[in-house]
Amino acid sequence: MGSFLSKNEFPVDGRTVLITGGSTGLGLNAGRQLAEKGANVIIVARKLGSLEEGVRYISRGARSPETQRFHYIVADVTTATECARVVSEVISWNNGAAPDIVWCCSGSAHPTLYIDTPVEQFQTMMDSNYFSCVYMAHAILNVWLRSAADAKAAIKETSDQPKKAKPTSLPARHLIFTGSFVSFYSFAGFTPYSPSKAAVRALSDSLSQEMNLYAAAHPDLPRVRLHTVFPATMPTQSLEDENRVKTDLTKSLEEGDQILKPEECARRAIAGLESGEELVPTSTIIWAVMTSVMGGSVRGGFWKGLAGTLAGWITSIVMIFVRWEMDTKVRKWGAVHGSSGMLKKE
Ligand SMILES: NC(=O)c1ccc[n+]([C@@H]2O[C@H](COP(=O)([O-])OP(=O)(O)OC[C@H]3O[C@@H](n4cnc5c(N)ncnc54)[C@H](OP(=O)(O)O)[C@@H]3O)[C@@H](O)[C@H]2O)c1
Repeated sequence: MGSFLSKNEFPVDGRTVLITGGSTGLGLNAGRQLAEKGANVIIVARKLGSLEEGVRYISRGARSPETQRFHYIVADVTTATECARVVSEVISWNNGAAPDIVWCCSGSAHPTLYIDTPVEQFQTMMDSNYFSCVYMAHAILNVWLRSAADAKAAIKETSDQPKKAKPTSLPARHLIFTGSFVSFYSFAGFTPYSPSKAAVRALSDSLSQEMNLYAAAHPDLPRVRLHTVFPATMPTQSLEDENRVKTDLTKSLEEGDQILKPEECARRAIAGLESGEELVPTSTIIWAVMTSVMGGSVRGGFWKGLAGTLAGWITSIVMIFVRWEMDTKVRKWGAVHGSSGMLKKE
């Protein structure tokens, strides 16, 4: 829970959670921690072996093993048809009920210098990080918003006296995307990856505003809340893969980065969701940088908004120097080592 004074805005006990990318890293740890809090969990990924292992690990954390249920689905979530299939399989498995929470956690990074990046990588990054969210959001929101509203409209049409809808007491549904530090601030070597994560944040901001339309039009249906979690650097398969292609220059620019184990990152992400945050930073540095570029994003209530705005004024000034320092590093690197981004061999 956010704090002992505040209400838990993300109750999961007895609820059903779908996590894409739930077989390893952040998604797996989030699944385990949500199982420990009483959730039924379905994980999605492409490799069967890691899904089987993942479900075993998550189910061992179940708070009530006799009632909680766990499942996996093999799918590549970069296509709309696969996302729609996943959602419909989850509904069948869940005895006809839609999942209450969907966390789009799958993703990957290919951080290379722009002109050295094979052009197809730009599409791959958008598919892996952005379109996986777009298609899953489209599939689940159509079920949460359209099917329920259509069913209600059909009942109204057949009844003589349309009744005024009463506000629901059902807990909100949650759609969660996964961003990155580079959703807010990018630097040399991240051109293939950062636009896909910045786009996720834009999708989250605009969808969150659209949800007000449905909440106002259908107060008797559970509200849909949008969130984006911004993980700190975590030593996972994704990081190993990206470090294989990352230049020495980009690695040097990242020095001093805060590294969190995926279980700690998941714990902080869930704590942020429980305290009602819409944009959920998982480290102080991500929070600080986020405050300088909040724009029209939801700031999380009066006090959090005030603290973020004050911090944002300071960070905006600090970022001028950060940018200047990074530009200086890049220029120095070019002068000493050339333009490959790799250390010059003696
Ligand atoms: N690690 C970091 O430092 C870091 C930092 C910031 C943000 N993030 C973001 O945090 C999220 C989780 O990262 P992680 O480091 O925990 O990753 P990870 O351990 O490499 O796990 C990635 C998960 O996504 C699945 N996946 C990847 N592509 C998929 C696809 N097309 N369809 C279905 N499943 C797919 C993988 O399984 P299969 O390979 O079997 O499909 C795996 O379950 C990602 O969105 C990542 O961009 C990570």
